[in-house]
Amino acid sequence: MTSKYQQIVQDILAGIEERHFTRGQKLPSIRKLSEQYQCSKDTVQKAMLELKYQNRIYAVEKSGYYILEDQDFQDKTISLNPDDFLQLPYEDFRTCVHESLIGRENYLFNYYHQQEGLEELIISFHQLLTTYHVYCKKDQLVITAGSQQALYILTQMQLTTDKQEILIEEPTYHRMKHLLEQQALPYQTIERTLSGIDLEQLEQAFRSGKIKYFYTIPRLHNPLGTTYDSDTQQAILQLAEQYDVYVIEDDYMADFDSKKTLPLHYLDCHNRVIYIKSFTPTLFPALRLGGIVLPHYLRKCFLQHKSLIDYDTNLIMQKALSLYIDNGMFARNTRHLHQLKETQETEMREKVSQYQFPYAYHLTPDILTIQLPKGKIGPRLKYGTRSGKIITGISYDYFQLPYSNNFGNDLDALNTALEEPS
Ligand SMILES: Cc1ncc(COP(=O)(O)O)c(C=O)c1O
Repeated sequence: MTSKYQQIVQDILAGIEERHFTRGQKLPSIRKLSEQYQCSKDTVQKAMLELKYQNRIYAVEKSGYYILEDQDFQDKTISLNPDDFLQLPYEDFRTCVHESLIGRENYLFNYYHQQEGLEELIISFHQLLTTYHVYCKKDQLVITAGSQQALYILTQMQLTTDKQEILIEEPTYHRMKHLLEQQALPYQTIERTLSGIDLEQLEQAFRSGKIKYFYTIPRLHNPLGTTYDSDTQQAILQLAEQYDVYVIEDDYMADFDSKKTLPLHYLDCHNRVIYIKSFTPTLFPALRLGGIVLPHYLRKCFLQHKSLIDYDTNLIMQKALSLYIDNGMFARNTRHLHQLKETQETEMREKVSQYQFPYAYHLTPDILTIQLPKGKIGPRLKYGTRSGKIITGISYDYFQLPYSNNFGNDLDALNTALEEPS
């Protein structure tokens, strides 16, 4: 027999499916529903919680429950081109910003004083993290003004009493390198190539006893686009544990990984990994929101540093992002992102397969990266394509061609340049 609680859930889901309810529509009040179903208000509340958990409705404080995703919203598979895609998260987000500004005077006019972030966003973020297989307690989370703020704070933290240096991959995210150079912080580098890193070299660096943390971008590395295989991931964690080194996992491209690689954080059993997630690449750069997952004992120190450089992270944006995640827009846009990237990658792969490059290369949906011996990049290669970019590494240099309408012509130019003697 169906319970009252199940009946309410079923009826509302059916109402959505049959299009009696549309997105944004307010549901009857708890009192009305309890009269209609002849049950207690608690039973109705339980049904609302279930629907909320299923991301079908959302609650507006002191107002009631509203429909989040109607059937059209769920079914629609949008045919996208890259320019449209940028528009899509922006428009959805605008709706959420609008929502955040309605009837929210309390939190807008009284400072919230919660360095770790808006409670609602912490809850949404905590839930979202499980989709990347990042499992933690809510009180391990801190919302930051983009990953950049988290990275900066980590450069300020002592972390251990005896170790001063930071280990970074070379090449790496240029802003991280900039952070270290501008503050004249001591750091070492370890070469990362298209085939990964030398684990003996990593052990040597860790064994030196100078490294407090290893900053790494395990998946969809910036700038190479590669992802560590699971043996390398395991080895990094094992060495980190053996030599008492923290690992900062910058997972800025988590939403772009259709292979859903497990993060280091998931594989870590010893609280070695500090996990950072940016919302910038998935949404838009102006959002300036990110989040960090810290071991409990580092949280207080992190928050103390954060309180020196900001008050509350932008509350309107935090509220809007929380709505954006809770009402399924984040998941929907990530799905579309994968669709788009898949089509792009197939197209690129097809074009690249027509050439026999004599060098190792790596393809992501956005970029072709060729690994070249030092000295190979001459003027022809440098200036022969419209949008080619050069990355300087330690043993190799890299030539990158981004996806564009001109990708086919750029490939031709690249091939001709590579055939010429250097
Ligand atoms: C490696 C890496 N981390 C983080 C970010 C994003 O940082 P933020 O969240 O500060 O915008 C980027 C952006 O390009 C990046 O390449």
